[in-house]
Amino acid sequence: MTKLVLPVCELAHREAAKILYPGAVAVDATMGKGEDTFFLCDAVGEAGTVYAFDIQESALEQTRKRLESAGLLSRAELILAGHETMSRRIAAGSVCCVFFNLGYLPGGDHDIVTTKETTLAALTSSLTLLEPGGAVFIAVYWGHPGGEEEKKAVEAFVRNLPVSAWDISETTFPNRNKAPIMLIIQKK
Ligand SMILES: C[S@@+](CC[C@H](N)C(=O)[O-])C[C@H]1O[C@@H](n2cnc3c(N)ncnc32)[C@H](O)[C@@H]1O
Repeated sequence: MTKLVLPVCELAHREAAKILYPGAVAVDATMGKGEDTFFLCDAVGEAGTVYAFDIQESALEQTRKRLESAGLLSRAELILAGHETMSRRIAAGSVCCVFFNLGYLPGGDHDIVTTKETTLAALTSSLTLLEPGGAVFIAVYWGHPGGEEEKKAVEAFVRNLPVSAWDISETTFPNRNKAPIMLIIQKK
C-alpha cells in the first residue's frame, strides 16, 4: 500500500524536496538529533549551506556525529544558540526552507521545550529570510505542558499573515488524540 497520510516530519520532507535545489540555503531552527538537518544537508548538495540551531549542547553533538559519519558536516553550520537569533546570522531573502519542530527533544530532557515567546520571534525572523517561493515548515507537537498555548499562538500568528504575500496550509490528523499538526507558509 502506498501511504498517503504521512507523519508530520516525513510530510515536511516530501513537500520541501519539491522546492530545495543544489546550492540552496536552508535553516533547521530546532536541530535536536539532526533528523531535519541531515535531510536538508543532503538536499542542498555540496554547494549548499544549512544553518542549524539548538540551545542544547547534546543536540549539537549528536547532530555533528551524524553528519560527520555521512560526510555531510561541511554543508552545515551548527549553532549553539536560540533560533530567535537567526536574523543576525543569515542574510535576508537568501533562504529556501526553514524547518521548525516544536516541543521537546525525544529521549532528552522533557523540561527543555520550545516556548511561545522565542518561537514567535523566530518565526517572524524566518519570514524575512525567505527568498520568493521559499517556505517555512512548522511541525507543532503540543501534547506536553505549555504545548497547547504555543500551538494557539503559532496558529494565531499564521492566521494574521496577509494572503497577498503568503500561501499557508495546515495539516491535521482528526482521528488521533493530540496529534501534531503541520503548518506550511510559502512566500509568494
Ligand atoms: C522537537 S525537538 C527537535 C527534533 C529534531 N527535529 C530532531 O530531528 O531530532 C525540539 C528542539 O528544540 C530545541 N529548542 C528549544 N528552544 C529552542 C530555541 N529557542 N532555539 C533553538 N532550539 C530550541 C530543543 O532543545 C529541542 O532539541
